Amino acid sequence: MKKKLRKIGKWLNDRGGFSELLKPLKEHLVPPGTGWNYVWGSATLFCLTVQVFTGIALAFLYQPSVNAAYQSLQYIENQAFMGSFIRGLHNWGASGMVVLLGAHMIRVYLTAAYKYPREMSWITGILLLGITLTMAMTGQLLRWDSNAIWTGVLVAEQTGRIPFVGDAIAHFFIGGATLGGDTLNRYFAMHVFLFPALLFSIVGYHLFLVFRNGISEPPKPGRIIDPKTYRQWYQKMLKKKGVPFFPDVIWRDVVFSLAVLIGLILLAWLVGAPELTKPADPTILEIEPKPDWYFKWIYAIFALMNRFLEPYFLFFGPLLGIILLFSIPFLSCGGERSPLTRPWAMAGVALTIAIVGSLTYAGLKADWVPAFKAEPLADYVSIPDSNAMAERGKHLFYDMKCIYCHKIGEQGGSNGPELTEVENRLDEQQIVLQISNGSADMPAYGGSLSSGEMKALVAFLLSEKKINEQNRKSPPKK
Ligand code: HEC
Repeated sequence: MKKKLRKIGKWLNDRGGFSELLKPLKEHLVPPGTGWNYVWGSATLFCLTVQVFTGIALAFLYQPSVNAAYQSLQYIENQAFMGSFIRGLHNWGASGMVVLLGAHMIRVYLTAAYKYPREMSWITGILLLGITLTMAMTGQLLRWDSNAIWTGVLVAEQTGRIPFVGDAIAHFFIGGATLGGDTLNRYFAMHVFLFPALLFSIVGYHLFLVFRNGISEPPKPGRIIDPKTYRQWYQKMLKKKGVPFFPDVIWRDVVFSLAVLIGLILLAWLVGAPELTKPADPTILEIEPKPDWYFKWIYAIFALMNRFLEPYFLFFGPLLGIILLFSIPFLSCGGERSPLTRPWAMAGVALTIAIVGSLTYAGLKADWVPAFKAEPLADYVSIPDSNAMAERGKHLFYDMKCIYCHKIGEQGGSNGPELTEVENRLDEQQIVLQISNGSADMPAYGGSLSSGEMKALVAFLLSEKKINEQNRKSPPKK
């Protein structure tokens, strides 16, 4: 039996040349000590493979037309064999790719692996980042639900503001002047043909560069990169101390990718893909858009920013970001590589993580979005010294939608200041003025309230409000 198997193996290898396929990997030498910090890139590539397989499976059932897209996704989600799981896997695979790509970039930046002679690896890497995010964006639009539409609007708005060519590009992306059937077709073609093709070509080139220039050696404080002597030094070092990529190094990539796969499977299985919101109707724009989490920080910037600055930021923000990213290898191409000797690099990364992290948090909380689902105040606010006027004001506060923007207790929106204890801050006259005149971000109610209603509202705001303790912590659910 054993003999037979060996014979089959020999035949396969002789005719198929499998050991020759492995030879370049076996002969490729890698600097010693690369360790677990060098697995991020291969894990990103692994996620891309997951995306290809799950993407093909989804494309079997998905129909890129306005009338059928949403239904076909419903079918995938609810009826198709393993449909919901595969959609979940594709969704979390996208998240995984974004996260791992981020980790890979941070590692490369911190260890200054972009320096001579690997500048092109960095540049193609930035292109890959752009394409990956574009894939994520176009993928979200394919859901063709109300959130998807918002993503499309964002892209169109964003590109439309680029001077001179913006309109033409936006036109290209949405396939016309407005969002519609042509938009969906274009996004589909881009998501499954155009950008994957670009992605694979550039990934191929990126990998070629890794093999050609060699993996960067783990940095050591005091070891300076000198473009004149680096390549020579690197070859000598490899000859003396290099280890074969296969199997000494690749096993870590395999183990880590398997761990990523298990993580993705668990997420797809236990959490699943985002629920489909309402079917898209381009004429009704959702007021409360929910982009996928890795875009939330951008959404937070828009929401928090002064609206006069927004157009400038929309244009100059990404432009500066792109210029900065591309210029990194040229700003410092030689010198120290160790993060220990480059405190500014560490500070920059920490600051970026802190900013994007807190914006993401703000985006996930989305407090400034009007709280349309606030509960009637009557359910959890009581006014101690039974005051009929204040009681009426309490109902008006809810009926006039003040609660959308103002918190009382734990309920209500955060567009405006919390008003639970406004009686300690403002007097009657100030409150009346504010309500009747409004301000930049609050409508003026002067014309729409009778004097009795105004009195009632003010009486409610000035009264001492007792918040039902239980509901203060967990507002009543309906
Ligand atoms: C669209 C959101 C919005 C709605 C709706 C709204 N407000 Fe306001 N309100 C604000 C904002 C924003 C401010 C802060 C104004 C500023 O500083 O310019 C504010 C300020 C106030 C203040 C002053 C609070 C302070 O501490 O300075 C009072 C009182 C107030 N609103 C009462 C009301 C009442 C009563 C209603 C309903 C009749 C209402 N608001 C509806 C957004 C809103």
